[in-house]
Amino acid sequence: MPAVPATSENLDRAAALLRGGGVVAFPTETVYGLGANAFDARAVARIFEIKARPAFDPLIVHLSDEAMLERVAQDVPPAARALIQTFWPGPLTIVLNKRAMVPDLVTAGLATVAVRMPAHPIARALIERAGTPIAAPSANPFGYLSPTQAAHVERMLDDRVDCIIDGGSTEHGVESTIVMLEPRPALLRHGAIPVEAIEASIGPLARELSDEARPLAPGRLSAHYAPHTPIRIIGDAARVPESERHGAALLAFRSPAAGYLDARVLSAAGDLREAASHLFEYLHELDASGAVRIDAERVPMDGIGIAIMDRLQRAGSR
Ligand code: TXA
Ligand code: MG
Repeated sequence: MPAVPATSENLDRAAALLRGGGVVAFPTETVYGLGANAFDARAVARIFEIKARPAFDPLIVHLSDEAMLERVAQDVPPAARALIQTFWPGPLTIVLNKRAMVPDLVTAGLATVAVRMPAHPIARALIERAGTPIAAPSANPFGYLSPTQAAHVERMLDDRVDCIIDGGSTEHGVESTIVMLEPRPALLRHGAIPVEAIEASIGPLARELSDEARPLAPGRLSAHYAPHTPIRIIGDAARVPESERHGAALLAFRSPAAGYLDARVLSAAGDLREAASHLFEYLHELDASGAVRIDAERVPMDGIGIAIMDRLQRAGSR
């Protein structure tokens, strides 16, 4: 299924598909999502089928306005209102108590629902035209690299979806940050919004989850976001012996090194936001290069750099 441009006509067609129980891939400011009407359990079941996603892994529900929030969540605490005020629309997902209307399949049987209002104009226009909250995981097979371009979705999911909307390359390149607020504020996934920004708004977030909360965020599974090619995390590629470069590919932070089969530089300027926006794109390319291994250089652990290292570590741990 070739991707189509986000013309008004195509958005109307995609919105009608969503209303009719279809599954549509669309761009967000983080990664491409695979969406279905969040109130339609049969449509949502197709998402799990297409992604081969285990049923214990709940989906994020995407909204186009705050009125939609009231249709899926309840008991919204003041801290959530503060975060919504500051970070929506944008790449922050908040876990709230769900309403009964939201099918158990969406939330994997949890009493909570994860919600976010994307900042991407195409995503918002699509949800608005569909007139219903849209449940959408990243548009990749479960456990594999996330898609940051329509072509990635075409390659990975092909004819299994009803429509792919092309919105070019995504801005952030890593997924939304996920927080829960009750029983106490906690970080469930590092993402496009740095933790420090959230803490500046509502105070400290717990980082270590209690055992019962841990399985709620499979994005935290140790092996996730992974290419088929093994990944090794390294310091400076210039220090890797020549013999080890042969046949391997390099995902460099600021500068390439000779002797690798193939190489990409995340950001020559050392800009972490630029690096994040290229992360999955370059991993997709290097995964297709025929290399026996991908050497990925560490990036500085600040701001969105923490989310980059989080993805690399999970990608490298299988
Ligand atoms: O940026 C993003 O968040 C992208 C775009 C498409 O919006 N979506 C995305 O979805 O990354 P996905 O399915 O790949 O990751 C959703 C994560 C999962 O790790 C899931 O467990 C967690 O959100 N999650 C969903 N509902 C939850 C809940 N009720 N409690 C705790 N975690 C939840
Ligand atoms: Mg995902």
